[in-house]
Amino acid sequence: MRSRKFALAEFCLRHTISTKYASFVLLCFILGTFVVRWETFVTRIQIYNSQEPARPVEIFEQQIKYLSNQTKTSYEISEISSNKVTEKNKYANVKLKFKEKKNITEKYQAKYYQAAPWERIHAKIENKDEPENYILSKKRFVKSVSCAKIIRGSKREITKSADLENDYLSVLSPTYYIRKTENCDDFINTREYITDPLSKEEKEFPLAYSILVYKSVYQFERLLRSIYRPQNFYCIHADMKMSDVDYDAVRYIISCFDNVFFSSKAYNVAWGTFSVLAADLTCMTNLLKYKWKYFINLTGQEFPLKTNREIVKILKSFNGANDVHIETKLNWEQRWEKAGPVPDKLTPYKGSVHVAVNRNFAEFVIRNATSLRLMNWLKRTDIPDEIFFTTLNHNPQLGIPGSYTGDLKTKNNLKKGDVARYKKWYSTGCTGQEQHGICIASIKDLQVLARRPEMFVNKLIWDNDHYTFDCLEELIYNRTVDGYNENAQFDTTEYSNLFFVRKALRHAK
Ligand SMILES: *[C@@H]1O[C@H](CO)[C@@H](O)[C@H](O)[C@H]1NC(C)=O
Ligand SMILES: *[C@@H]1O[C@H](CO)[C@@H](O)[C@H](O)[C@H]1NC(C)=O
Ligand SMILES: *[C@@H]1O[C@H](CO)[C@@H](O)[C@H](O)[C@H]1NC(C)=O
Ligand SMILES: *[C@@H]1O[C@H](CO)[C@@H](O)[C@H](O)[C@H]1NC(C)=O
Ligand SMILES: *[C@@H]1O[C@H](CO)[C@@H](O)[C@H](O)[C@H]1NC(C)=O
Repeated sequence: MRSRKFALAEFCLRHTISTKYASFVLLCFILGTFVVRWETFVTRIQIYNSQEPARPVEIFEQQIKYLSNQTKTSYEISEISSNKVTEKNKYANVKLKFKEKKNITEKYQAKYYQAAPWERIHAKIENKDEPENYILSKKRFVKSVSCAKIIRGSKREITKSADLENDYLSVLSPTYYIRKTENCDDFINTREYITDPLSKEEKEFPLAYSILVYKSVYQFERLLRSIYRPQNFYCIHADMKMSDVDYDAVRYIISCFDNVFFSSKAYNVAWGTFSVLAADLTCMTNLLKYKWKYFINLTGQEFPLKTNREIVKILKSFNGANDVHIETKLNWEQRWEKAGPVPDKLTPYKGSVHVAVNRNFAEFVIRNATSLRLMNWLKRTDIPDEIFFTTLNHNPQLGIPGSYTGDLKTKNNLKKGDVARYKKWYSTGCTGQEQHGICIASIKDLQVLARRPEMFVNKLIWDNDHYTFDCLEELIYNRTVDGYNENAQFDTTEYSNLFFVRKALRHAK
């Protein structure tokens, strides 16, 4: 596989430059290898021409001939198309369908830039760590409406999406996953998982995810696909309530990845009880076996608002601080009064369910005696999962790295500014439906979601409004590609100035 891919890459690189169309400097990423059993493969190529009217079709006809000759393989162009290059739009998108005499076909993605230096191109291809097995170019997941327009706030497109809402529903069933995962390579390719870390920065900053799933395998799988990178770790807690077929589907999906696994114990998670915490803590314990920098917990009904690269940049800008929500309103004593004295003279605080904590915090949670005493005490309180992390992170005398050292006596000192989760309360007015007092993101929220500073949104429900989900997935995917191609800037100044970052405990006592 590899050699043929490299052959095509090299062909792209070396020979475009040596043709008489030397004004095209070529950058050729090998972005996809796709083994299929028929005999054509498609390449989409973007050419930028600054000097003369581009004739991409001719160029590629020439090059295919050249390739055939060089590799002693018979390539044949069965279909070729491109847009016109004009004064204004100097990019040409060329689509080629090849026929090859061999049995195995591959799908390539190539991208051409005018300005890219040759050395860098070359390095991309020679470097064994570089992308090998996925397709990465901006694309539209959603064909029936324009997500880009919706995100720009087009009322017309929003109305159109409401009209079409039920016309373009196609959900992958649990049995699809069970069948498709019989061949994991096929599954990973078909579902277009990103199997490369994408950057050194991301590779060196692995994340640990705990994901609580209790229904909708399809939505879970799309969440996983959006956040999946080979360097991260994913602990999946499949709720005892899950149906057998859903459970099997999840089981087979995760069996296709080395870094995705089930939690060692499964609970029947009931919101507001200790079981929520138990599920997360089991995953945290399981995850501590691996090397990573930050822990993030999610439910199957959340979705990223940032790309992996952006999440890494945000967490790095925290400089070790833990993002643990704390309620600005401080009188919640009724929740724990009945539980008796708080162990080790801790001051309890109430937060909400979302955290992004560093590894030292996770180790403290799982291993420290004070933490274990707090955990036991919490079993007698109401909604313990909202108290546990918040209490640990706001008692700086414990010396937990990254915990909050600022003033907590007056609520004015607690600024809202945690960025783990975007969540809109029903009381503030929903554009769509609500569930348990929280708004379910709707199509009208997309414009806002695209700009929110938070890393994830709670709640996004595919069944409820699939375009919102589909468009967000498309947006995050496109941004991943932009980030990868270094076409996107991401400024973390505001993150590094967040109140909990500025007031974080930097060194363990
Ligand atoms: C094929 O390649 C050889 C040398 O590599 C060259 O001499 C020959 O002209 C090429 N044929 C065509 C049709 O390009
Ligand atoms: C595919 O390869 C096999 C063996 O290599 C051969 O028998 C078969 O005819 C080939 N199929 C096609 C369509 O070329
Ligand atoms: C994603 O990229 C494709 C290709 O450039 C574009 O057509 C589409 O509108 C983009 N989608 C979004 C949500 O930006
Ligand atoms: C994340 O973990 C915290 C602490 O265990 C818990 O309160 C919360 O419910 C978890 N959130 C999710 C979304 O699982
Ligand atoms: C637990 O944390 C407390 C407070 O920081 C510390 O005094 C104690 O040594 C820790 N115990 C263990 C076993 O880590």
